[in-house]
Amino acid sequence: MKALGLQKRKGWPELGSNQNKYAYYEIRQRLRKLLQKNKNAKFILTGHSLGGALAILFLTVLAIHEEEWLMDKLEGVYTFGQPRVGDNQLKEYMEKKLEQYDVRYFRFVYCNDIVPRVPYDDDNVFFTHFGTCYYYNSSYEGKVIKEEPNKNYFSVPWTFVKLRLNAIWELNRSFIFPYTRGPEYKESWLMKTMRIFGLVFPGLVAHMPQDYVNATRLGSLPLDLQSTMHQLDSKVN
Ligand SMILES: *[C@@H]1O[C@H](CO)[C@@H](O)[C@H](O)[C@H]1NC(C)=O
Ligand SMILES: *[C@@H]1O[C@H](CO)[C@@H](O)[C@H](O)[C@H]1NC(C)=O
Ligand SMILES: *[C@@H]1O[C@H](CO)[C@@H](O)[C@H](O)[C@H]1NC(C)=O
Repeated sequence: MKALGLQKRKGWPELGSNQNKYAYYEIRQRLRKLLQKNKNAKFILTGHSLGGALAILFLTVLAIHEEEWLMDKLEGVYTFGQPRVGDNQLKEYMEKKLEQYDVRYFRFVYCNDIVPRVPYDDDNVFFTHFGTCYYYNSSYEGKVIKEEPNKNYFSVPWTFVKLRLNAIWELNRSFIFPYTRGPEYKESWLMKTMRIFGLVFPGLVAHMPQDYVNATRLGSLPLDLQSTMHQLDSKVN
């Protein structure tokens, strides 16, 4: 929130004093100008890791300020490997706002990435995710779910074994797939070395942008995004 422009003792005033000092106010101003010049243009908020957190928090502050015109121009929020950003109260608030302003929020999670699984979620206090999770396993096969499996990473004892079996699979993929499936799966030596490191600490390697880019490029989802979204919506309602 500080990186976006949260101000000491003032929080989020409608108009920041000395606006260009704060990312949120400056970006909002530039967006307004650009979108007024291009009447049919839409914009997208996106980011990886902490960048993903900033993307969804940017929308949160827009919602707090009831920036209806800007949110109407927002095509969607796409985050990759995003950590949890708030508690249950924020979740409820944002779910209402997403519906009210008809904003689509896609939260991509690759396999055993540790970052989307922190900070700790215990169902009532502390942190919780909102929005729809697009989860890809290490075969880059995706599914649409509410929350990624193994949501706290260290919660179940047998995951220790499971995470490492998966790391072995990823190492295998790195060496074998370029031959069996084609050059799209070729990885750099740095990445191959990271895969070996992944046998020790699987969650960190899975967080790197490589698997996010390649899961969305090479991966598949069971249905097209739109119809799956609607299914989820009606289930929730
Ligand atoms: C990924 O998911 C698909 C579909 O659920 C499954 O068939 C496949 O075995 C999974 N791959 C791995 C490596 O878990
Ligand atoms: C490695 O990949 C090959 C080809 O996809 C597969 O036949 C083999 O079973 C895999 N081995 C392991 C240990 O996953
Ligand atoms: C995705 O895989 C390709 C190989 O097809 C590789 O060259 C590329 O570096 C990967 N993407 C990223 C962002 O690393």
